[in-house]
Amino acid sequence: MEAIRSVEYDRPIGLTCGVGEAWARVPQAPSPEERRALKERIRALLQREKAVLVAHYYVDAELQELADETGGCVADSLEMARFGRDHAARTLVVAGVRFMGETAKILSPDKRVLMPDLDATCSLDLGCPVDEFSAFCDAHPDRTVVVYANTSAAVKARADWMVTSSIGLEIVADLHARGEKILWAPDRHLGGYIQKKTGADMLLWQGSCLVHDEFKGIELDLLRNEYPGAKILVHPESPEGVVALADVVGSTTQLIDAAVKLDAKRFIVATDLGILHKMRLAAPGKTFIEAPTAGNSATCKSCAHCPWMAMNGLANLADALERGHNEIHVDPAIGLRARVPIDRMLDFAARHKKRVRTSGDLAKDATLFTNVGAA
Ligand code: 13P
Ligand code: SF4
Repeated sequence: MEAIRSVEYDRPIGLTCGVGEAWARVPQAPSPEERRALKERIRALLQREKAVLVAHYYVDAELQELADETGGCVADSLEMARFGRDHAARTLVVAGVRFMGETAKILSPDKRVLMPDLDATCSLDLGCPVDEFSAFCDAHPDRTVVVYANTSAAVKARADWMVTSSIGLEIVADLHARGEKILWAPDRHLGGYIQKKTGADMLLWQGSCLVHDEFKGIELDLLRNEYPGAKILVHPESPEGVVALADVVGSTTQLIDAAVKLDAKRFIVATDLGILHKMRLAAPGKTFIEAPTAGNSATCKSCAHCPWMAMNGLANLADALERGHNEIHVDPAIGLRARVPIDRMLDFAARHKKRVRTSGDLAKDATLFTNVGAA
């Protein structure tokens, strides 16, 4: 049995906002003077609140810069989780999407976790409601339940393992080697990629990321012909035909790492375009080209930018800090249960990887280059 999900993301969904509403709520770009004033205010508020800013690579470049400059971190979802858990600050401000804030809260229930906009969600999370997911699990009690980080706390609470794109391959390979059959949710492309690489017996939930789902293999192939010698970097939430063309498949941090390390002048990048800011900083002198999101006749739904990540801005971040607005709450009982699969992943990462890196490390050295699977 295969779970099929069909969700219309263009309308408000349940208590949160769909794509159209998310774009409508993306903060207007402030003027240069407003921007300077907002950044000053945020620096002061971070100090006043003894808070640390934890940002994802897909959010606005200025939020990333503020995180780096104020001692926070810009990272993929695995390292965001670990950084928030290990940092001494009592308040974490998570610039990203809701599952990242929830993961931070689950790992640090005694900390205050704020977000610029609590409705910044993720199509994978929206496409995997806990009731249907639980029924799917109940129908397959013989399978080990592995969920992607991009899920609600309640879905994590139903899982045996949580993984991120930077470590899912290793964890499933390990489970497979121990003879376990997997029930995977929610991203069908990442699940299919891991299944192919590991040969594991995996039953896949049919969710997808509405940003990565838009990348097109045929157009990518045509673009590659225009740039001979360019390396193709692909996030594994992309469709199989796109992954098949990749020189490197990996999490956001791993793709930035590859941009630094690989001996090429040009890169075609199939992930959210927010990542290009850090790639250009980490690998100056190299050229980064966005992978095509649509063919000639298609409409561009996503334009390679996540509408929910785009909801994070300087003004709503400053307001959240100033007023203590937009605090993440996770039901303590669900949080306690959801922590089990997250801790399993973090313990596995600690055992199997020398270290997981944040953007701050990337420019310093390009030695460790683990866990990058060429397609
Ligand atoms: P990473 O963990 O690779 O940063 O991915 C998170 C995400 O949401 C990608 O769309
Ligand atoms: Fe979710 Fe895709 Fe946005 Fe990542 S880019 S947060 S997977 S919708």
